[in-house]
Amino acid sequence: MTADRHHRIKVIAHRGASEDAPEHSLAAYRQAISDGADGLECDVRLTADGHLVCVHDRRVNRTSNGRGAVSALELAQLAELDFGSWKSPAGRTETPDSADPERTTVLTLERLLQLVADAGRPVDLAIETKHPTRWAGQVEERLLRLLERHPLPGRVRVMSFSARSLRRIQLAAPEVPTVFLMNFLLPRHRAGRLPPGNRIAGPGIRILRRDPGYVERAHRAGHDVYVWTVDDPADVELCAKLGVDAVITNRPRTVRDQLDRL
Ligand code: G3P
Ligand code: CA
Repeated sequence: MTADRHHRIKVIAHRGASEDAPEHSLAAYRQAISDGADGLECDVRLTADGHLVCVHDRRVNRTSNGRGAVSALELAQLAELDFGSWKSPAGRTETPDSADPERTTVLTLERLLQLVADAGRPVDLAIETKHPTRWAGQVEERLLRLLERHPLPGRVRVMSFSARSLRRIQLAAPEVPTVFLMNFLLPRHRAGRLPPGNRIAGPGIRILRRDPGYVERAHRAGHDVYVWTVDDPADVELCAKLGVDAVITNRPRTVRDQLDRL
């Protein structure tokens, strides 16, 4: 597929509307939905007691007032931490009284699935498994169990930098499209081909800046292309010109507006 002005590019909110609200907070996802995002992106990690929570880093240090690895903490311990004040509008710590729990409480994948189900319009969910190889399939197993309990048919994509993690999803739930994420192109992926079973290519924007022809090659190989993280107006313009299928951004409203004007 080549660039086509009638091709509507999907806007997927990276960790929610995370430019404005604390990443991965319920507030950030609610805002992304009201900002008109077509989809939401989240990273998932397993807690010590087997819950999937939406946290990007291995440790909680950057995005909360706690310390330690997510995998070493139980959900109840994570729930006591403040995951939002670091991103308060004034750039300073809020008092516990002024903190909005939807900005500060750790978000479970289960709660996010409920939010998407209740959005009042179709919203996609792109779930990224983080460092799942450590967990010998537990991340994917738990994820698929949650999807059985909260089905969003046709709305969920599972993404990963780990081909092995995506393979587990493909074998257990072939109906769920998987996105193979790439930081750079290995020689075997340059022609646009992906590890078997993946329907969608997920290149970082740096790949397209260096190799804009990648999009056409991936399309010719039969894959959609979801690009991350596209915040800069020049990158949005590049993605529109190349006719990508989705952009993953921290600024869903701004990027949607720019795409609609192009
Ligand atoms: O959407 C893919 C992108 O989120 C991958 O990078 O580090 O932001 O999870 P990262
Ligand atoms: Ca991610």
